[in-house]
Amino acid sequence: MTKGMSYEEFKSSLRDSAARKQVLRSRGRPFHVLLSQQFGRSDIESLCDTATAIRRLDRHREGRGFLRGVLSGQRIMHLFSQPSTRTAQSFLAAADKLGANSRTVTDLSTSSFAKGESVEDAVRTLSSFFDAIVVRHHEDEFATRAAWALLRSHRPIPVISAGSGRSQHVTQSLLDVYTLRYSFAERGGIDGKTVLIIGDISRNRAARSLAYLMTKFDQPRVYFVSPREFVPERDLVQYIEKHGIEVRIHETIESMLREHGRQIDAIYVTRLQQEWDTGGAPTELGSSDPYILKTQYRELIRPDCVVMHPLPRVNELPDQWEEHPGFVVWRQVRNGMWIRAAIFAMVHGADEEIRARARRLELIP
Ligand code: ASP
Ligand code: CP
Repeated sequence: MTKGMSYEEFKSSLRDSAARKQVLRSRGRPFHVLLSQQFGRSDIESLCDTATAIRRLDRHREGRGFLRGVLSGQRIMHLFSQPSTRTAQSFLAAADKLGANSRTVTDLSTSSFAKGESVEDAVRTLSSFFDAIVVRHHEDEFATRAAWALLRSHRPIPVISAGSGRSQHVTQSLLDVYTLRYSFAERGGIDGKTVLIIGDISRNRAARSLAYLMTKFDQPRVYFVSPREFVPERDLVQYIEKHGIEVRIHETIESMLREHGRQIDAIYVTRLQQEWDTGGAPTELGSSDPYILKTQYRELIRPDCVVMHPLPRVNELPDQWEEHPGFVVWRQVRNGMWIRAAIFAMVHGADEEIRARARRLELIP
């Protein structure tokens, strides 16, 4: 059934949770990793547990040796057509930790895309040599199209989106949730927490993926601060509200924090996505005054409020915030490697084995 699907049918199946399972899961676990919506609560919990198991095994002599064998002999293609520091390097480091071999292509003009090759032919070719493809691309649907092409092929291999145009950055939101879970470990977890997301939401894939992923938790609240022209689009707001989650949108950080600052449990600051501006490259990069998290706002929030940023940052999160007790941005970066290693393990069906070994070595409960 899935093999004969047209691309339009494949895309429309992604909008429905039962149909999505058919096309994105295999053997009861996530296979292609494209969207936050595709993850259930139990997927998220076991992914986070696997990440913790990997983190602890990596510090243990026997554990480290064991990890290197988990994906030994597997080959991973990292296709990055847009700039990346953290995502690309953390995927590569994650593959190294599990003993997989990696190859990277960053300049697509050196591949046969430059000769007009279709996405479908290109990824089917890559699937002859690799066991998974990690892809960051400026087109919203490149990874989706690649996943569809591979489902129709004789050698389906997982496609993992590492940032899809303006639409989603699913592995970023998984590492964000892993970081939130750690931060709230002593405070009842993510359920019931209020998360404020700041940025030009309608074109910010990290912000959007996190907002979608928050719907997997019980009764959180999702607040946004966004310039009027980039407010979260109706689809996103409706999706969140459909899950019974309270949404609030303000136009400035100051008005949001003056009204709700003490109630907010985590602030997720993001960079203005000026690379998408039309009319030429902006002359000056950075956020304008209402979207900078000024240090004086510390008095409007609780000391235990978690402060996050997917990075890179420009001026929107001043360095002085590093002194705030809830600042976890560098932990987020490091968690990117652990969660991406857990994603590789999950799609290759090696995650249970990893958790079992960590349990046997008494590294996780
Ligand atoms: N690095 C993240 C992304 O690629 C966030 C950003 O660039 O602002 O989406
Ligand atoms: N957070 C993030 O995706 O960073 P890079 O763009 O550097 O990969």
